Amino acid sequence: MGRELSQLRGACRLYFFLDGRLRTGSFVDFGMFLQSLLLAAVGAGLATCAQAAPGEYPDIVKSALGYPHNSILLCGMALGYEDTSAPVNSYRTPREDVHTFTRFFD
Ligand SMILES: Cc1cc2nc3c(=O)[nH]c(=O)nc-3n(C[C@H](O)[C@H](O)[C@H](O)COP(=O)(O)O)c2cc1C
Repeated sequence: MGRELSQLRGACRLYFFLDGRLRTGSFVDFGMFLQSLLLAAVGAGLATCAQAAPGEYPDIVKSALGYPHNSILLCGMALGYEDTSAPVNSYRTPREDVHTFTRFFD
């Protein structure tokens, strides 16, 4: 699913902000929203790359886009059409087995 902006055709970048007064529950809500958006994009024939990196530079992004200082920049996302001719887009990340991050109790 993930593709950097340069590996997408017709790409745009999205930024996601939260009102700075919101707390933990809203972060959970946002995670679900983002997951839905990523899946919906793929369902619509688009490709995405969620990017936490812009969140490392919140002041620059907020200033450029005119968002309030107390807003929370959560992450960015590249959205576009996959460039299937770009070799990097053939890379597939491995998936952890569920037993490596879950404890089961009888
Ligand atoms: C919330 C979120 C933030 C991410 N931030 C970054 C990032 O800043 N830089 C990066 O290279 N990948 C980031 N990733 C990973 C990529 O978006 C993508 O998931 C990864 O390239 C693996 O692709 P795949 O999901 O198709 O396996 C992030 C993923 C998520 C869900």
